[in-house]
Amino acid sequence: EFSWKLADHPKLPKGKTVAVVVLDGWGEGNPDKYNCIHVAETPTMDSLKKGAPERWRLLKAHGTAVGLPTDDDMGNSEVGHNALGAGRIYAQGAKLVDLALASGKIYEGEGFKYIQECFDQGTLHLIGLLSDGGVHSRLDQLQLLLKGASEHGAKRIRVHILTDGRDVLDGTSVGFVEMLENDLSKLWEEGIDAQIASGGGRMYVTMDRYENDWEVVKRGWDAQVLGEAPYKFRSALEAVKKLREDPKANDQYLPPFVIVDESGKAVGPIVDGDAVVTFNFRADRMVMIAKALEYENFDKFDRVQFPKIHYAGMLQYDGELKLPSHYLVSPPEIERTSGEYLVHNGIRTFACSETVKFGHVTFFWNGNRSGYFDPNMEEYVEIPSDTGISFNVQPKMKALEIAEKATDAILSHKFHQVRVNLPNGDMVGHTGDIEATIVGCKAADEAVKMILDAVEQVGGIYVVTADHGNAEDMIKRNKSGQPQLDKNGNIQILTSHTLQPVPIAIGGPGLAPGVRFRQDLPTAGLANVAATVMNLHGFEAPSDYESTLVEVVDS
Ligand code: 3PG
Ligand code: CO
Repeated sequence: EFSWKLADHPKLPKGKTVAVVVLDGWGEGNPDKYNCIHVAETPTMDSLKKGAPERWRLLKAHGTAVGLPTDDDMGNSEVGHNALGAGRIYAQGAKLVDLALASGKIYEGEGFKYIQECFDQGTLHLIGLLSDGGVHSRLDQLQLLLKGASEHGAKRIRVHILTDGRDVLDGTSVGFVEMLENDLSKLWEEGIDAQIASGGGRMYVTMDRYENDWEVVKRGWDAQVLGEAPYKFRSALEAVKKLREDPKANDQYLPPFVIVDESGKAVGPIVDGDAVVTFNFRADRMVMIAKALEYENFDKFDRVQFPKIHYAGMLQYDGELKLPSHYLVSPPEIERTSGEYLVHNGIRTFACSETVKFGHVTFFWNGNRSGYFDPNMEEYVEIPSDTGISFNVQPKMKALEIAEKATDAILSHKFHQVRVNLPNGDMVGHTGDIEATIVGCKAADEAVKMILDAVEQVGGIYVVTADHGNAEDMIKRNKSGQPQLDKNGNIQILTSHTLQPVPIAIGGPGLAPGVRFRQDLPTAGLANVAATVMNLHGFEAPSDYESTLVEVVDS
């Protein structure tokens, strides 16, 4: 018989305030000048590492340890926070899509059948991130889907691309467009009218998240649906090459463009009777466009046209909103997360970050589920992020504001768990600006200090960890770890995440003296954190959770 009730921990007390701090994009790497965490002044994080060897360790945060297809996959915030919150390792979207494509099951599902209904009369539109980063989407999956859809009856296909440069090196958009155009021309030879119809950089067009800036989604809508954009080109390759000639241009922020025919008419607006698939598997940056494509009532921007289409997501992106209602592959069934258990066991929870990471400690933490489990037990606070800037301009972001909110929550004694995400290492790291990332890491460290001071004041416990690496390595390296040079001899800046492990530290005056990290879990990863946190709240974890990291020795 299932019960939400957690068993009491035999040795650890209840009622302590536990601060759970996630440093986004904060891995442990080689201490050299491209490691911004090493270069930055980070006395708080340094002291946690040096202070108590039995209360500091590293955790795996990439690859199969977080449910990604292979150990060559870098970590990311979705899978990282899913693992942290759920305490178990789920085969994640990337893997589930791989399996569905390989078995062909994707073409037998309800979602595909739904879009297939449009293939006779309408166009199939595919919208998504064009890269092989494996965080939001993968080119090889798009290629298989193009092939499969045409074999299953699609006669006219339009691809609306979003260029990356964030999960992959900047400048790689050109090569990805070449590969895609090559595939599309092969389809063309087989009698399928297939081409790229529009595009833009992922951070400027379509892929906003957590409702930070609807203008981003609108720019995409105008290009993809209305066929309108400030730039018009005859081919996507020409578009990307030309737009990148601006010395300030980069793949992440390319402006929106549409592809036009010889008469100047857009080749692929979305119209009544068409089918649309958003082919990203990752949820956060697809929820907003999914709302625009699906909701009859919508007031976030003027859509001008709301064509009657059959829309499916690659996955269902929000399990609570059931959005979108049609999807090609079922998402991982992440259930019984630690947040839900703790609320059922009387743990009052406070969670906070700024907009760009807010959903990480709420939505992702709770298994891609929006909203509260129990509004009487939880309070989620979002600090508005600055919009319309690249975070290398404001590298401190809202770290101190987040720490202030957390401090207030801790000192209020209203909550047992106070959970935050500090975004700097990741968000500034993604800009590729080394100087700015160093400033960001220092700010994150100061925020940790503030939170630990509050924990000290209330006799609480802290858990400080990270979701994946980013800021600890800012350059592309060859196999032996040396900087990899491009054809002009320049060091290549790494804007993406890494494969590095992340630190976890526990402590605080409320931590029982005999608590220490176990020595028998050398390969533990992020999924081991949930059981650990449950213990620190005085509970045993459910038996199917990955094991706790801590033991209590009699002292
Ligand atoms: C993004 O969406 O910003 C990047 O692709 C991944 O970053 P995140 O996993 O840290 O959010
Ligand atoms: Co990131």
